[in-house]
Amino acid sequence: MKKLLALALALCMIFALCATSAFAEGETVGVAMPTKDLQRWNQDGENMKNMLEEAGYKVDLQFASNDVQQQLNQVTNMINSGCSVIVIAAIEGSSLGSALDLAKEKGIPVIAYDRLLMESDAVSYYATFDNYMVGTKQGTYVKEALDLDNAEGPFNLEITAGDPGDNNARYFYQGAIDVLQPYLDEGKLVVKSGQIDFNDVATPTWKTEVAQQRASSILSSFYADGSDIDVWLCSNDSTALGVTNALEDAYDGEWPIITGQDCDISNVKNMIAGKQSMSVFKDTRTLAAQVVKMVGQILAGEEVDVNDTETYDNNVIVVPSYLCEPVFADVNNYEELLLDSGYYTADQLK
Ligand code: BGC
Repeated sequence: MKKLLALALALCMIFALCATSAFAEGETVGVAMPTKDLQRWNQDGENMKNMLEEAGYKVDLQFASNDVQQQLNQVTNMINSGCSVIVIAAIEGSSLGSALDLAKEKGIPVIAYDRLLMESDAVSYYATFDNYMVGTKQGTYVKEALDLDNAEGPFNLEITAGDPGDNNARYFYQGAIDVLQPYLDEGKLVVKSGQIDFNDVATPTWKTEVAQQRASSILSSFYADGSDIDVWLCSNDSTALGVTNALEDAYDGEWPIITGQDCDISNVKNMIAGKQSMSVFKDTRTLAAQVVKMVGQILAGEEVDVNDTETYDNNVIVVPSYLCEPVFADVNNYEELLLDSGYYTADQLK
């Protein structure tokens, strides 16, 4: 009897395995990425494609040159060509409404990838890094590097934030500002440009050149008298690069603390060269793996792994989310984080 039961169990397991992989094999997953211009989205796209293919899915991976209409067309095509699940890292969180409505009508689950899809009830899940925590890591770094609780100051600070069309940008900004606000209130941190509010410090499309232009104009308008800048709080690496370029062009004072996020290759090189103080490492392999798991759970009708059901309100629904943990990176731990883990090769950082 025991033998018969064991045989039956083994047969069931084999059947279940075959059924899952036959199921996976028929399915196409659409993956819509914002642009190839930034290193991270290339990595995110490639990681997800490889992992999904390994799991037996076909993948329709598209990049949209940061063009909202192009992304809308790509997502609409994914829906019409029969994708079973669509994963989207939006260029502009609120602009995909008509495609999302169509997905809902056809019963196609949509996963918001890294950036939340706004103003829609057609978003099934959201997977991202803890965006607010990214900001608190940047703010805490500044607080500790300047020893703000003990040092007398005042210190000059300028701020460069992200794209207003990206829901993440406000979380990064707020996370950092919440740490630094008491020192701004107390006058220990001074923003000579007076540009502090998110809308005054934002960088449309996150572009390096846009951040560089604004930084250059701040330098010529507020620091031409020779005053030092102690900190330039930048929300990510592409904007940190713009600020660094502007400083290299037109600043002779003591080199400031510069924050970042993503550990892009050029920025890691800048950290090694002492030009950027820190970054926040978001291992795109972790996020991709989480999303591949979500896709599998959705298609198998299983409960989907989430760890936050409160934070991410897209103005219509609170989207069940999985938040991965971002990691502080600087010149002291980049080898362990980025090289030992196989994220980059030593040659890439030369
Ligand atoms: C991502 C950041 C990235 C930025 C610019 C944000 O949505 O979370 O990692 O630096 O977009 O691409």
